Amino acid sequence: MSELEREVSAPGDGLDRLRIVATPFVPEVRLYLAEDAIVWWARMEAASGHALPAPYWASVWAGGQALARHLLDHPELVAGRRVLDLASGSGLVAIAAALAGASRVVANDIDPYAVAAVTLNARVNRVTVTATGEDLLDSDADDVDLLVAGDVFYDEELAERMLPFLRRAAARGSNVLVGDPGRGHLPRNRLDLVASYQVPTTEPAVDTPVRRVEVLRPR
Ligand SMILES: C[S@@+](CC[C@H](N)C(=O)[O-])C[C@H]1O[C@@H](n2cnc3c(N)ncnc32)[C@H](O)[C@@H]1O
Repeated sequence: MSELEREVSAPGDGLDRLRIVATPFVPEVRLYLAEDAIVWWARMEAASGHALPAPYWASVWAGGQALARHLLDHPELVAGRRVLDLASGSGLVAIAAALAGASRVVANDIDPYAVAAVTLNARVNRVTVTATGEDLLDSDADDVDLLVAGDVFYDEELAERMLPFLRRAAARGSNVLVGDPGRGHLPRNRLDLVASYQVPTTEPAVDTPVRRVEVLRPR
C-alpha cells in the first residue's frame, strides 16, 4: 500500500486530510484533494522529518480544469489517440482524456506523490492511466498523438524548458494543447488561442468568482 493509500484510508476529516471531491468545472472527474493543501503539506513534512515538494497534485488548477473540460467537450480530439499529460499533478487532464476515449493515456509528473495520486485518482474514476515520474523535458515525446499540459507556466525555469519541448512535439506531428489562466511565464506571443473558458476560481485571495482560462497551442 502506498503512503497516499494509507493517507486516504486513515480515519479523520480535518483540514489536514485529503477528501474526494467532484472537480468544480469538470464534475465528471472526482479527485482526492486536500481540504487545505498547506496544512496537509505541513503535517506530512512534520511526520517525515524532511522537506517535501509542494503538493500541487492536491489542488485543482484553473489551467488543468479548462483543458480537461475542452477534452471532454471535444472527444473527437481524443478518441482513439495516444495521449501524454505532462506535469499531470492530480491527473485531472489525463483522466478526462481517458474518459473521452483515448486509446492510451500516460500521465507524467516529477513529484512521486503526484505519480501516486494519479494512480489513486484514475482508480476512483475507473479509468486506466499509466503514471510515470521521470523528467521528460529534455527528450522528445515519441508515440504521442495528443500532448496536453495544464498550468505549467507558473515558474520561469520550468517555462523555459517547457516551450521547446512542446514545440518539438508539435513539429514531430503531435497535437499539442496547453491550458493556462495567464500565469507570469506564459509565452503568450508564441502560442495561438484555441478556446477560452470562464473557470470558477478555487485559489485563495482572488476577488472574482471566475477567471478566463485559455486553451492554446504552440504557434
Ligand atoms: C500547477 S501543477 C498543474 C497540475 C495539473 N497539470 C493541473 O493542471 O491540474 C504543476 C505540476 O507540474 C509538475 N512538474 C514540475 N516540473 C515538472 C517536470 N519537469 N516534468 C513533469 N512535471 C513537472 C509539478 O510536480 C506539478 O504537479
